[in-house]
Amino acid sequence: MTEKLVRVWDPLVRLFHWSLVATFVIAMLTGEEESLLHVVAGYAILGLVGFRIIWGFIGPRYARFSNFLYSPGRTIRYLGSLLGGQPEYYTGHNPAGGWMIVLLLASLLIAVYTGLEVYGAEGHGPLATGGPGIEWVSAAHADDDGDDDDDHREGEEDDDQHEGEENEAEEFWEEIHEFFAYFTLLLVFIHVAGVVVASRAHGENLVKAMISGNKHVP
Ligand code: HEM
Repeated sequence: MTEKLVRVWDPLVRLFHWSLVATFVIAMLTGEEESLLHVVAGYAILGLVGFRIIWGFIGPRYARFSNFLYSPGRTIRYLGSLLGGQPEYYTGHNPAGGWMIVLLLASLLIAVYTGLEVYGAEGHGPLATGGPGIEWVSAAHADDDGDDDDDHREGEEDDDQHEGEENEAEEFWEEIHEFFAYFTLLLVFIHVAGVVVASRAHGENLVKAMISGNKHVP
């Protein structure tokens, strides 16, 4: 069988992929404690996924969603051919890989969004609900009727109530955030296993292809 070398992955897809791997590893390693690096990694992931979604519509042929999103029937047929030891060949992503990409991007987006909600409940970032807002509310309660002490106590109670609500919100978002971080990790394991299986089945090192950009197409 003759083969030809085809440039499949453009430089931006490759840069996107390996930057995503690096930022995802950093985010997972820094998730336990309050860490600025974790927040920076989260913003970087958001930027990368945002770029990839746009690139999926305007990028070159093999980067487009329309090139690798196939019907459920085609996807099942591909998986059947893989299990039968005669996998159908796709120059770009195979149908199973294509759906895995959508799942990965969606799960990453949810993880980043819920992370921003946690950060917001702590009074930081674009979704912040606390911080200056709390002071503004308690200041609005102050008046000039002379009973400063009462006002002060009222303000403190307000603050306590707000902090309680904030903690509840923080815990709520934290749980969902953690769930999606680990769900993404599970998808990554399946993704890497899929890459190994497809590489063996097609006799081509797909990791090398994601580095060089080239594939040997039969
Ligand atoms: C060391 C671990 C990893 C390896 C070896 C690896 C390898 C690969 C390979 C070979 C492809 C191309 C598959 C194909 O030929 O169809 C790919 C695509 C992809 N991988 Fe990974 N991957 C790794 C980790 C990750 C992680 C951690 C993520 C996300 C959190 C990820 C997300 C993706 C995405 C979104 C694509 C689609 C690329 C595109 O078209 O833009 N990968 N990966």
